[in-house]
Amino acid sequence: MKSPFRPILGQLYPNRIVEVASLGLDRPGLIPLWFGESDLVTPKFIRDAAVKALDDGKTFYTWARGIPELREALAAFHQRTVGITIDPERVTVWPQDERGILDLESLFKDPEDNTLVYCCGPEALLSAVEQQCAHWPTGILHIERFAAKAPTVEEAAEALEQFEVVCQRSGVSFEITSDQSILEVLEEAGIPILGSCYEGVCGTCEAKVLDGIPVHRDSVLADAEKAAGEVMLPCVSRSRTERLVLDL
Ligand code: FES
Repeated sequence: MKSPFRPILGQLYPNRIVEVASLGLDRPGLIPLWFGESDLVTPKFIRDAAVKALDDGKTFYTWARGIPELREALAAFHQRTVGITIDPERVTVWPQDERGILDLESLFKDPEDNTLVYCCGPEALLSAVEQQCAHWPTGILHIERFAAKAPTVEEAAEALEQFEVVCQRSGVSFEITSDQSILEVLEEAGIPILGSCYEGVCGTCEAKVLDGIPVHRDSVLADAEKAAGEVMLPCVSRSRTERLVLDL
């Protein structure tokens, strides 16, 4: 009869736990605890030890809001970097592997008058926070990204493939093609502009827009700044108009 198992399974070798377990499986009197026998009563000596520990007052409650030393260190860091004292009691550490996913819905329901949110971390978290705070007034949520956010289909569609960039003060203009970034072209031509991350996350290359409508692809400018269109980050941003005039 043909074996129902794939041949490769026959080449697997048992792990160390199975090896140890196999040594004792048939021994009379041996309690097989290694596979987590759920219907086995906890041995008496363990129960006795647990009762003694409780009687001796050795009950341990885990720090639900993070260990005090860590919360104190975070408060001290805040004091050092921002110059504001926060009571460590107001600091909460939320390790996802211990406490599960943050309940953003209740956390970010409605902002108080003095609420400010600063958030950095993986893209999935940042997008979820942005989505949750989408109805908030601008200026409350501050997101820090270490990689550019991918444009949506709509954002990608509104950028022209090719357009002209005019550097007003330098008196020169350039044709930007779909495979070039504005910053790259300007740097090559010796236009005085600085770049650092080249991913739209640091803000170094910010340039003033005198005319035209940029398509913002950066993760630095606030939504209101993007809507105003007065500045842009030419390392990643594109143009919606055939001509973009920059104060360079
Ligand atoms: S070089 Fe960092 S945002 Fe443009």
